[in-house]
Amino acid sequence: MSLLTELHTEIEGCKNCELARHRTKVVPGEGPEDARLLFIGEAPGWNEDQTGRPFVGQAGQYLDQLIGMIGYKRSQVFIANVIKCRPPENRDPMPGEIMACSKWLERQLDLIKPRVIVTLGRFSMAKYFPGDTISKVHGRSKRIGGIIYFAMYHPAAALHQGNLRRVIEADILKLPAVLAEAGKMEEEKERPAQLNLF
Ligand code: URA
Repeated sequence: MSLLTELHTEIEGCKNCELARHRTKVVPGEGPEDARLLFIGEAPGWNEDQTGRPFVGQAGQYLDQLIGMIGYKRSQVFIANVIKCRPPENRDPMPGEIMACSKWLERQLDLIKPRVIVTLGRFSMAKYFPGDTISKVHGRSKRIGGIIYFAMYHPAAALHQGNLRRVIEADILKLPAVLAEAGKMEEEKERPAQLNLF
């Protein structure tokens, strides 16, 4: 069993907050263990709670389309959430729930080691762009250590506010350049080691 599968089994048994009493299934996330590109949503909704899989409802179908727009398949990226269990009535996650759940996301990131992390919506944005607002920071990236963070509106926002579709689609089209920058960073990291061979 891989370390990530073991971690997901651990997450599935989590009872660290009240949400454990309301959930049908835990939704740890899914994707390749070595994904370079990783998306972080907010929390599972009804469909995700039923299936145990992230982004499988309407917002998920739109996310799949967005991923397709940059030439990727869903199976090539990792999809996670800030919160692993559905909040009742799809209410916003509470600060205590976010805190109780944060170690799981951190452990996932430690194992997967993505190069680019896309935050979807304000809850995942708040983790990596503290003090910013989504209306200002969407479509922008920032580098911290070896990871580039890129902020986007949540795909569900376009389902409620049709005019955001264009903004979201313009933002996702910036990702290939961000991925290329991440690729260059990786090459630079490897270069001194290659020189040492001679
Ligand atoms: N919205 C999210 O933020 N995450 C999901 O998994 C589904 C919908």
